Amino acid sequence: MAKVPNFILNPYFCIRNAIVNMTIKKPTVLSGIRPTGYLHLGNYFGAVRNFVRMQDDFNCYFFIADIHSLTTHPIPTDLESSVKQVLAEYLACGIDPEKATIYIQSDVPEVTELYTILNMNAYLGELERTASFKDKARKQPDNVNAGLLTYPVLMAADIIIHKANFVPVGKDQEQNLEMARKFARRFNRMYHKKVFPTPKPFTFDGKDMIKIPGLDGSGKMGKSEGNAINLYEEPAAIRKKVMKAVTDGGPTVMNQEKPVAIQNLFFLMEIVSEPSTIEHFNSLYNNCQIRYGDLKKQLAEDIISYTSPIRERIIEILKDNNYLAKVARLGAEKARESASKTLNEVKEVVGFRRLF
Ligand code: TRP
Repeated sequence: MAKVPNFILNPYFCIRNAIVNMTIKKPTVLSGIRPTGYLHLGNYFGAVRNFVRMQDDFNCYFFIADIHSLTTHPIPTDLESSVKQVLAEYLACGIDPEKATIYIQSDVPEVTELYTILNMNAYLGELERTASFKDKARKQPDNVNAGLLTYPVLMAADIIIHKANFVPVGKDQEQNLEMARKFARRFNRMYHKKVFPTPKPFTFDGKDMIKIPGLDGSGKMGKSEGNAINLYEEPAAIRKKVMKAVTDGGPTVMNQEKPVAIQNLFFLMEIVSEPSTIEHFNSLYNNCQIRYGDLKKQLAEDIISYTSPIRERIIEILKDNNYLAKVARLGAEKARESASKTLNEVKEVVGFRRLF
């Protein structure tokens, strides 16, 4: 038998090591994006950029919610290419498969098993009252399917299957996350066991997640809003979209407050442009000398400088099917390992233990 160093058998060291392991255990962070096409600047600055910043300090799970996508009945070939695109985009943005677990939801069947179990403790009334359900039911009245109704249950399963402590999501997901917290606590209460931690919304630097405005003077940038600039967008297309952005007749009074559409353009500049550029256009605005055409041209070029390297990486990664397959396989493996641990615990707690 190999000689065991003395200190390992020493109870003092055993306890000490256990405590050290406990205290250095990184909290778990989880988030996902539905593969509905290309990631846009809103996804990037609102979410993915923060994912990248978190991967060193947290035990991270970032996944692609392809099962959730089925609630809107995408064409299968579109879904396939969206999943590949988002995976390539995650990687191109800097999510590192060595640090974070990157996986595709449908590769982890434990999630749907937990979803089935959680469905038994989710009530029709509360699901029907969810804002996102009502919203979707209004948008697709011919397809108000059960998956739409139980969307928050599947999302809760995604989160609690890894016992996530923090979930970085945008404002639009706040209610879904609140439901996940409720389902986690309800499960613990029903079975008198603290199986799941209560997942908290994560805000970077203690600030709210930023909401990227659309270019049409409206609220947020979104694919379904049709006002998005994708990370993968070609420079010519970026120029065209930015030049079409909504503006107004221009300021008529010095230091006039900016209307929302103009504020939005400046907001985008704050993210992609040099401080001196912003100052330049700000003072032109305040002196009523601004030409929106010039501002837009500059903004378009600065967006292009920002996104071009990412776009180039996306193109490279998309060519490498072997690499993508490897990343997905590794991610699925790691995710299933963690998920099956939780699922086994859940099965035991609910009464699936065999007495024979
Ligand atoms: N509903 C989220 C969205 O549309 C995607 C999602 C699914 C998710 N499961 C999740 C986000 C779990 C965070 C955690 O953006």
